[in-house]
Amino acid sequence: LASVEFDLTKVELGQQVTIKWRGKPLFIRRRTGKEIAAAIADDKAALRDPQTDEERHKPGKAEWLILVGTCTHLGCVPTFGGGDFGGWFCPCHGSHYDTSGRIRKGPAPKNLAVPEYTFLSDTKVKVG
Ligand code: FES
Repeated sequence: LASVEFDLTKVELGQQVTIKWRGKPLFIRRRTGKEIAAAIADDKAALRDPQTDEERHKPGKAEWLILVGTCTHLGCVPTFGGGDFGGWFCPCHGSHYDTSGRIRKGPAPKNLAVPEYTFLSDTKVKVG
């Protein structure tokens, strides 16, 4: 399927659901205020692939982070809640991503990719 619709009411605050999209895992994460604050606080950090947190989600929708769930190093699937930056950790070769999915440490060159998506309503997104 080229695009997929997803009902956001299935995701609790502070949780993440992984779905399949174009053969890849897609992370749909509902961030807590703490995760969002940590991401914004690091907007000015020395980032390898510089992007503000604002650029990584839709306007006014900081709670929702939608990311392609493959490490930008060699494509393993990072897990949330590990690593040094409170976000994702890729166990394959040790890449650390922050709560915005930005690469912070390890061999990966890029942030976790943000796919093309739109909000169809407050509770529904269409990815792709
Ligand atoms: Fe993730 Fe190498 S594939 S660190």
